[in-house]
Amino acid sequence: MKKIWSGRLGNSLSSEADAFNSSIAFDSRLYKQDILGSIAHATMLAKQGILTKEDADLIVKGLQDILEDIETGALPIDLEAEDIHSFIESELTSRIGDAGKRLHTARSRNDQTAVDLRMYLRDQGTIIKGLLVDLVKVLADKASDHRDTIMPGYTHLQRAQPVTYGHHLMAYAMMFLRDIGRFKDALARMNYSPLGSCALAGTSYNIDRAYTAQLLGFDGITQNSMDSVSDRDFCIELLAASSIIMMHMSRFCEELILWSSWEFGFVEMDDSCSTGSSIMPQKKNPDIAELIRGKVGRVYGHLVSTLTMMKGLPLSYNKDMQEDKEAIFDCMDTVKACLGVFTPMIKTLTVNKDRMYKATQEGFINATDLADYLVNKGMPFRTAYKIIGQIVAYCIEKGLILEKMPIEDYKGFSQLFDTDLYEQISPEACIKRRISEGGTGSESLEKQLAYVSAILDKEKEK
Ligand code: ARG
Repeated sequence: MKKIWSGRLGNSLSSEADAFNSSIAFDSRLYKQDILGSIAHATMLAKQGILTKEDADLIVKGLQDILEDIETGALPIDLEAEDIHSFIESELTSRIGDAGKRLHTARSRNDQTAVDLRMYLRDQGTIIKGLLVDLVKVLADKASDHRDTIMPGYTHLQRAQPVTYGHHLMAYAMMFLRDIGRFKDALARMNYSPLGSCALAGTSYNIDRAYTAQLLGFDGITQNSMDSVSDRDFCIELLAASSIIMMHMSRFCEELILWSSWEFGFVEMDDSCSTGSSIMPQKKNPDIAELIRGKVGRVYGHLVSTLTMMKGLPLSYNKDMQEDKEAIFDCMDTVKACLGVFTPMIKTLTVNKDRMYKATQEGFINATDLADYLVNKGMPFRTAYKIIGQIVAYCIEKGLILEKMPIEDYKGFSQLFDTDLYEQISPEACIKRRISEGGTGSESLEKQLAYVSAILDKEKEK
């Protein structure tokens, strides 16, 4: 195919270099944004008297036809073309003649690709934000179902203190809420139109950038033409926010993988998100959770590759920047695919309450509460801490747990102990006693649920 730039150079690019240079295999997905951007541009050029009304009408009609033909499959994308922008422009010209050649007045592919990408990512970002809202809703609903499901809370993956499964789920709800916030921030910051920045320095034509920005649903225009054509901060922000989402999902997946093992037995994944083994008949494997955990690497990789790609670029546009697309497209696809299976996985998870509860009765998870028991009876915390440490060592030696150690033995360590201690160190009592804000007590959980639901309601209003 003849190059749109084949004036000075003729058509002598080697076929290897041509294929290497081409981006249409991956930027063809921008066809719709490219067409809408061009329609807005032509409309603006006509309004400003730069194009005649007749030419603009031909262009707009021609572009609308091309859009329809691409979507119905009547017009296959020519993978020999250099990129989606030149493909659509030359298709337009072959359909409407000279008017098509006028479309690129006061425009460059540099601002064109920048505006297309912002429009595409704005839509993708909004989809991901919606998926996050659905996820947080599921987490909050499940948390509300599991207000009273008691499980061990861990630090260092050692049983630490009892918590409710609801509280544990709400920890993730908070993470994904912040992810929603990060996406919102990034989407708001990127919604400014670079169109009209042209190659790098603006144009001598009397264009109306605010008008095209408005036609394309932007909140305004970018302020510096050199920055506009060479800025990919919006990709990097989305990549960074996506990396954090992936990290959050991966942490939960890691827990689910552990919890669904025989050793923990806390949860069972639904058959809809488990697989079997081709050789071991007893196996039920958490493949989906593992795959999400595994896919984090590629998203982090795209963030790092894009940051690295940008770091040495002199202003303004450089062809290196064509590398932005595969990275950010794969990132968006991956995050969407992961959220698409993660949320149903959480929703359909079976929780083995008995196993969770039983795990709180071993491992001295109530030792802190036993120390607090002595503190409440007047002993300084450090002294109590030391005594409980000795009691734990004694229990381990005798094969006892705190709930089962006889009161006479307790009295041997301190006369402050009495039979009321047993009731005080039950997992239920430990949780009930956690009255501080943000803790695992029931009042805190109610507050967390209300907090999340207020934010979700606001998100849904939009
Ligand atoms: N395919 C190119 C990209 O994605 C379009 C911009 C080309 N501009 C240029 N001056 N070669 O970056």
